[in-house]
Amino acid sequence: MNRNFRTLDDMGNIAGQVVLVREDLNVPMADGAVSDDTRLRAAVPTVAELADKGARVVLLAHFGRPKGERTPDLSLALVTRPFEQVLGRPVRFVDDQGASEAIALLKDGDVAILENTRFDAGEEKNASETIDRLAALGDLYVNDAFSAAHRAHASTEGIAKKLPAFAGRQMEAELDALEKALGTPEHPVAAVVGGAKVSSKLDVLKHLVGRVDHLIIGGGMANTFLAARGVNVGKSLCEHDLTGTAEEIFDAADRAGCTIHLPYDVVVSKEFAANPPSLRSCNVHEVAADEMILDIGPAATEALADVLKNCRTLVWNGPLGAFETPPFDAATMALARTTAALTRDGSLVSVAGGGDTVAALNQAGVADAMTFVSTAGGAFLEWMEGKELPGVKALAR
Ligand code: 3PG
Repeated sequence: MNRNFRTLDDMGNIAGQVVLVREDLNVPMADGAVSDDTRLRAAVPTVAELADKGARVVLLAHFGRPKGERTPDLSLALVTRPFEQVLGRPVRFVDDQGASEAIALLKDGDVAILENTRFDAGEEKNASETIDRLAALGDLYVNDAFSAAHRAHASTEGIAKKLPAFAGRQMEAELDALEKALGTPEHPVAAVVGGAKVSSKLDVLKHLVGRVDHLIIGGGMANTFLAARGVNVGKSLCEHDLTGTAEEIFDAADRAGCTIHLPYDVVVSKEFAANPPSLRSCNVHEVAADEMILDIGPAATEALADVLKNCRTLVWNGPLGAFETPPFDAATMALARTTAALTRDGSLVSVAGGGDTVAALNQAGVADAMTFVSTAGGAFLEWMEGKELPGVKALAR
């Protein structure tokens, strides 16, 4: 693969060097404990490899959005013990005050976490004083935080121009997977784009119609496209003011030779609740005025499985239905299982990303069967929009 960035393999002898590693330790918390440690686990390969090579590893990361204020609830001290457990070796917490003295005491192979980079207002402004302060703490810089790479901040972008900069293993895996999925994919390529609102994914849809062969639209977004085709969607979630935009996307897809897949049968109900009494599936043209569409129907689900069987690459962002509430998870679960089976057979490269999508894949028990699951939310979307991510661009050779 033709790569435009350097990796840990290009670092040479790093024993005794202080390596500043930007990780994404922005993990969800519940009752003071980390409720999902996926991002902590994703950081392990890079941190362990650098420490094993004798580097003095200092992690830079943000936690929440403290907006330049020292906020005790958002101190990375809270994540230090959980990360230590996941890493399986001691991790020191280093406050910004006195950071250089504390770093000077580190020995080869030691690992430390620096306080939340966003406690300094200069971080999000990418301010030169902040960049200089951070860069002065280390000899080399590694960015392993793809999921924060859409931010042009001091610790994600500015610093990469001050120190020799390398991609960590997680960053490398993300960039390789995304390149395989949309950069230079094997065709036919399908994309599943779901979620509540067209408005939040307009740029994604506009970009994808020019890159993929099949665009599968699910979730509440599909209702807006159905409405644009003259379907009466009852009281479904629908952005009626965007039907003109949906028409433009249909036209762009036609010009690009991309087939847009909308459901021709749907699962509807009069109320949004688990297993409601008014539940039924019907043709899209039979939705009553007091019903709402909450999932795509069984025939449409089967048709989508057939589409995927003929594709070589799939990129997936967003569920097909209201998957948190049964039985409106049925289509998303079925498509997840189909994707997993095709990936296991070696006929499909499958790349998925985004919080809801990962939750849905976990619910289906198939996250491990995907070719790659991104840890990123906002960064994954911006990448699907075709945007250049500042944190990635700054790593360019
Ligand atoms: C995320 O959680 O998606 C990343 O850590 C980025 O966080 P942010 O949206 O606060 O920049």
